[in-house]
Amino acid sequence: MSQVDASETDRLSEAIGRILPALEDFNHFQGQDLAGRQRSTWMAALNQPLPERGVGLDQVLRKLTETIIPNGLRIGSPGFCGWVTTAPTTAGTAATLAAIVAGSQRYFIQPFSYLETVALRWLAELLGLPSDLQGTFTSGGSVANLVGLGAARQRAFERRGHDPARDGLPPDSRWRVYASSEVHHVVTRAAAVLGLGRRAVANIAVDAAQRIDLDHLCEALGADRAKGILPVAIVASAGTVNTGAIDPIEQMAEIASRYDTWLHIDGAYGLFGVLDPRVAPLFRGLERADSVAVDPHKWLAAPIGCGAVFVRDRALLARAFTTEPAEYLEGTAGTREMQSSFDDLGEPHHHFGVEHSAPSRGVRVWAILKEIGAEGIRERVIRHNDFARHLASRVDEDDRLELLTAPTLSICCFRYRPPQLEETKLDDLNTEIARRLRVDGAYVPSTTRVAGKIAIRPCYINPRTSLAEVDGLADRVREIGDSLVPGGIRDVGSPIDRRA
Ligand SMILES: Cc1ncc(COP(=O)(O)O)c(C=O)c1O
Repeated sequence: MSQVDASETDRLSEAIGRILPALEDFNHFQGQDLAGRQRSTWMAALNQPLPERGVGLDQVLRKLTETIIPNGLRIGSPGFCGWVTTAPTTAGTAATLAAIVAGSQRYFIQPFSYLETVALRWLAELLGLPSDLQGTFTSGGSVANLVGLGAARQRAFERRGHDPARDGLPPDSRWRVYASSEVHHVVTRAAAVLGLGRRAVANIAVDAAQRIDLDHLCEALGADRAKGILPVAIVASAGTVNTGAIDPIEQMAEIASRYDTWLHIDGAYGLFGVLDPRVAPLFRGLERADSVAVDPHKWLAAPIGCGAVFVRDRALLARAFTTEPAEYLEGTAGTREMQSSFDDLGEPHHHFGVEHSAPSRGVRVWAILKEIGAEGIRERVIRHNDFARHLASRVDEDDRLELLTAPTLSICCFRYRPPQLEETKLDDLNTEIARRLRVDGAYVPSTTRVAGKIAIRPCYINPRTSLAEVDGLADRVREIGDSLVPGGIRDVGSPIDRRA
């Protein structure tokens, strides 16, 4: 019997010290991003057969520093504004490393599990959520929405004398979840996973500002009620991933109570927007939600893998997600006098979601909020919302750029639109502009569709972004567009000339 494990379990400072310079280099995002173009090189270096004999820690660290880290994904670079996730800031990164080493489970009595509770309380307070909601961290917005809707499902069927967590869904019933056509597709998938089915999600039309149309919502609810269809939940997006639109929460809360159904808010991206006094009134009614999803790994720039959900009814949430007690786990944690960390499981988060073993995530949120305070994140949200407004005004001033919807939060959807070009060519043109932006790599927005039209969609949540990147994007879209459309630049001049 071998007495010594092959893994190194020591030399942590040495190992981390070895990769740190490569990580810091990476974080400066110097030069062009060549990882995509040079993928055959690093893929060949990594695509090796399973080693029968390990090569040892030193070789692993070398591969990390020379091949893997330098080709990493540059979503933290200042000009990247494509998604609603970004690279983490330093405090969250250090806290995550600390949790991996010293708090690698969120159970029992120890500071990392305690910080789950503290960080959830801080988040609720920061975002203006009632203090008595049961919060739990999740891997992200997908699971946060799944958990919120799982609790909604539990309530809806329990009201009909049926326990869906225990018995599954009753075969003789019909049910519906109501959300706008702009709802994030993870909500639709959550309905699939919960056995409600994707088709149970009624895609309610949106108004010109991309918010759910309340008349259509009420019509759908009324028509379904007449047919005996059970309303499981109404989902308000706050804000949407495409444009940042915030559904009218207060009116939806009113409608939910009229139809005796659950109000779930998907605030994965936009809930931090409540910190901007200009936008805060749009979140009126938030306190009436039955469940709320919010992602610290979006605007708070926590390391990826950090979402959260808050549910009004703790007991109901536990009925929806409880795992039966297991001797190996609960058996060690009795009511005896606390003599060891393992005598008490602590807050039973494994009964409030779909994960059993899970990392301690609260410490990331705690570290970030401790570092910059409510003031720091408030200032970031306002700055990013300002960026979107600034870009919108640049677009408005430019006769070759067109705003597709006015920003509510930090997303600005616009397109290049030369006067002489017919509508049918604009989607391809703007798709090509976005492709060229990705090749350049200096400013990387995504595209989306707004009322069927392809839009260039920067979403500002990245703490490293400055106004220079916002102006740079407007200039570059204009330049690329002018280069693609013959006669453009000579006719109207470059935006830089016109502003001078
Ligand atoms: C509004 C909204 N909901 C849900 C999600 C899904 O979150 P995640 O990617 O963390 O699972 C996103 C992701 O961008 C989002 O913007």
